[in-house]
Amino acid sequence: MKPKVFIAKPIPKEVEEYISHYCEYKIWDQQEPIPKDILLNEVAEVDGLLTPKGVITKDFLEKAPKLKIVSNIAVGYDAFDLTAMKERGVIGTHTPYVLDEAVADLAFGLILDSSRRISEFNHFVKDGKWKQSLDRAEWFGQDVHHATVGIIGMGRIGEKIARRAALGFEMNVLYNSTRKKPELEEKYGMVYSEINPLLERSDFVLVMLPLKDSTYHFIGEEQFRLMKSNAIFVNCSRGQVVDEKALIKALQEGQIRGAGLDVFEVEPVAIDNPLLKMDNVVTLPHIGSATEKTRFDMAMKAAENLVAGVTGQVPENVVPELQSLVKSPSA
Ligand code: GLV
Ligand code: GLV
Repeated sequence: MKPKVFIAKPIPKEVEEYISHYCEYKIWDQQEPIPKDILLNEVAEVDGLLTPKGVITKDFLEKAPKLKIVSNIAVGYDAFDLTAMKERGVIGTHTPYVLDEAVADLAFGLILDSSRRISEFNHFVKDGKWKQSLDRAEWFGQDVHHATVGIIGMGRIGEKIARRAALGFEMNVLYNSTRKKPELEEKYGMVYSEINPLLERSDFVLVMLPLKDSTYHFIGEEQFRLMKSNAIFVNCSRGQVVDEKALIKALQEGQIRGAGLDVFEVEPVAIDNPLLKMDNVVTLPHIGSATEKTRFDMAMKAAENLVAGVTGQVPENVVPELQSLVKSPSA
């Protein structure tokens, strides 16, 4: 008998076909997110779950007694209760690597947009406000090339951003990370820095941290205070690594020049969030990995992890904190 799985969002046909070879499956194929009660009902009998953002709690696991694996179609897995999953022996997987380049592209989009005021001027032109040449200092942007960028979090995506910055834009790259990366320092001429000097010296400050207890509100009032008054702050990782109130205050008080944000503390962002009223802030609806190819690759990778997990193989992308569930005692 084939293992049973539930697919909690629409996925490409090819990916669905791949799963159908190995699993008996049901799918939520509507665009709006699946309501929680329906999801809980669907997971009561399944061995595996494919989901965009698995909010996996102890209670959830109790409603899914047969569950062996939750396969996230995302790199972030901050909604997994890792302790509960470990206790129950439920494997969690995610989709690293396949989205790194797409997210790094978007990070550069935010860097270029916020410094050269692309979105702001796009509105300006389309709103019919372009009546004369904008040859005045108040309209000028900031250079990206040869500027200093400080990257906080040098994981897979951080590395791709560093490569673009160093090789493409000839920027000076500072980075902070739990582990130093000598091979990348060599390759891109980048320099490890403690947090405070990185904040003090960077024209662009990027956070590229996964959300965990230790990174919650990692950037707050004290950190914004250290940044240059012309600094641009960019976040396309997780909104909650930043104290958003402190960011708003820093922008209101002119402590920093602007921001480029793909993520927010609460998503979708509330319409009355002051960030949405600021011309010097570029806001996007969490689209870091949202290209056709990348989203296809993520769905396929997640499907492969799912199938491996329900057929007794070791999935390729088990999240680091749950590796112990798949390691054989002899390994
Ligand atoms: C997107 O935010 C992801 O975690 O893949
Ligand atoms: C980002 O920090 C990553 O895990 O790639």
